[in-house]
Amino acid sequence: MVIGKYFSTQMIAISVAFATAGVASAAEPAAPSKQEFDTKVLYCKTCHGLNGEGFRGASIMPRLAGQQPDYVENQLKAFDERRRQNKIMANVSHALSPGMLIALTKYFKDLNPKPLGGAPKDLVPEGKKIFDEGIAAKDVPACASCHGPQAKGEGQFPRLAGQLHDYIFNKLTHWNTERGQDAKNPDSSAIMEPITHGLTEPQIKAVAAYLSTLE
Ligand code: HEC
Ligand code: HEC
Repeated sequence: MVIGKYFSTQMIAISVAFATAGVASAAEPAAPSKQEFDTKVLYCKTCHGLNGEGFRGASIMPRLAGQQPDYVENQLKAFDERRRQNKIMANVSHALSPGMLIALTKYFKDLNPKPLGGAPKDLVPEGKKIFDEGIAAKDVPACASCHGPQAKGEGQFPRLAGQLHDYIFNKLTHWNTERGQDAKNPDSSAIMEPITHGLTEPQIKAVAAYLSTLE
């Protein structure tokens, strides 16, 4: 498994359990009809932006464009199984057939709009340093070691490039109350948990600003 090479030994148990869960079904589920698919994608885009670039509305809708399919698939299941807490997405994901879910993950991967922007530019250099080097004094590893040097992600490691800075800030400051909420079904969110504690608010703002500028 590709992610294995990044993990410390304590995380291997989680990743193995996780990988096994992922290969349970052998056959690809039936694909939706074109009409069903188009209707559903349009629905996603009313919130996530016409090109999946993200949207600032009543709540902050994350960018889905270019996101890693394995990560998206797991998050949609996590919302439905309440491993990840979000009322809106729990309802959205509950209504997706397995075939629709797979088709949607492939679709959003291929979109490539410009980042939405809007972050304070003066924070970008500090954010880049944190992303590339981590914070040794706080045992925070380089973000790039898992999310990739360009922040494009891979497999269960999400793309962060071009993500909305305020979305990233919210996720990193609320990790414990949103992710990994089913103790009986631990998932890959456990990997990020200690990292979120090692970062101060100004550091999170800086790294979020940097990531939001990446194409
Ligand atoms: C009514 C608005 C709305 C609709 C419709 C909607 N979403 Fe979302 N979605 C959100 C919000 C808000 C979040 C952020 C949740 C959070 O903050 O944790 C989100 C989060 C996500 C995430 C997690 C992204 C990440 O980076 O972790 C995925 C994946 C996702 N949505 C996919 C979809 C798909 C696919 C559809 C269409 C089937 C869809 N959404 C429809 C509002 C919506
Ligand atoms: C040891 C590997 C690893 C390192 C190092 C790492 N991450 Fe992550 N990160 C992950 C994994 C795995 C996920 C997916 C978690 C999940 O499945 O819920 C993730 C998820 C995230 C998310 C949520 C993305 C979304 O769309 O909701 C953000 C934001 C994030 N990481 C930022 C960072 C930052 C900033 C750093 C550096 C300070 C960092 N990560 C370092 C593995 C890592």
